[in-house]
Amino acid sequence: MKGLILSGGKGTRLYPLTFTSAKQLIPLSNKPVLFRVIEAIRDAGVDDIGIVIGDTGDEIRTAVGNGDRWGVNITYIPQDAPLGLAHAVKISHDFLGDDRFVMFLGDNVIQGGISPLIAEFANSDYNSQIVLTAVSEPQHYGVAELGADGQIVRLVEKPKDPPSNLALVGIYMFDNNIFKAVDAIKPSWRGELEITDAIQWLVENGYNVHPYIHRGWWIDTGKPNDMLDANSYVLEELTPKNEGYVDRSSDVDARVTIEAGAEIINSVIRGPAIIGKDTRIVNAYIGPFTSIHHDCLIENAEISRSIVLENSQIRNVARRIEDSLIGRNVVIHRSPIRPQSHKFTLGDNSVVGLLND
Ligand code: DAU
Repeated sequence: MKGLILSGGKGTRLYPLTFTSAKQLIPLSNKPVLFRVIEAIRDAGVDDIGIVIGDTGDEIRTAVGNGDRWGVNITYIPQDAPLGLAHAVKISHDFLGDDRFVMFLGDNVIQGGISPLIAEFANSDYNSQIVLTAVSEPQHYGVAELGADGQIVRLVEKPKDPPSNLALVGIYMFDNNIFKAVDAIKPSWRGELEITDAIQWLVENGYNVHPYIHRGWWIDTGKPNDMLDANSYVLEELTPKNEGYVDRSSDVDARVTIEAGAEIINSVIRGPAIIGKDTRIVNAYIGPFTSIHHDCLIENAEISRSIVLENSQIRNVARRIEDSLIGRNVVIHRSPIRPQSHKFTLGDNSVVGLLND
């Protein structure tokens, strides 16, 4: 089996963070989503992995390298434009050859990994296996309608009127018949070659497409709130450890991970939470479901259910910061300069929620 990770696309729904960086590299619990995907595929026993890259390709190549770190072999497959998931499969034909493969969207996070799924597919005569899970807003996803026998009747991409609440998770398994399907379909109303349409083609043409129902959590990290939810789930699964320094006047509970070189001074940290390498937490409160990445400073401030990326500083902020996604090299501080007013330097598409006082 081979692995194919889709890591092109633009990530517009995560602007402004993704103006300067690939959405697949945003960390959850201080580890990029894409690294989690590579590990899930590697743990399922697949070590020959292609990564489809687009505009952010250079950044992805720099972050991932040749795969040595995970004991896998990575091949990069440049895609000129994000013309759809089925287009990404098409351009990966040379890499995939006639092998069976698992395709994993580089922005998806799933509970429990994919080893059982891969084993089931590898030992079957299915031409394809798709993963479905019940969601509350199916109109945002590919949606499957199953018959009374549990087999697939129909698949539709982001339907206005969804035929069920079963969304297609971004993990798919195929044999080489998928190349006939991607050649046969036409672009959708949004101008993309949809993998959902290609799988529908397999179903219509008598191929054996098996639906696997996933019962744990799954998140497509498309929007800021999805990132915060996914971060919470991942933090809950982390085995805590302390490789940093906690002074005697701090109170750090058992579900907190402190990475090497981090310092916690006169602060309270409630887990699950992670404090990154060489970060300093001084006279501060870090609440549950919070990830602070490396080389940050949180001083005289309170923050909970948030993600703070590397090299950022939050200093002397009176009110608690909550439900926030804070990018790299950001500074939030109380300004001593008059007039006493809010002073912002924000990138395009930033969102600031101010208190009503
Ligand atoms: O996350 C699950 C959903 O993913 C499914 O339910 C949908 O059926 C499927 O179409 C897909 O929908 P999205 O709209 O969420 O896909 P998105 O455009 O976000 O792309 C998913 C990943 O694939 C992302 O990491 C970017 C990458 N990609 C996307 C396109 C369109 C590529 O590498 N090349 C592309 O051409």
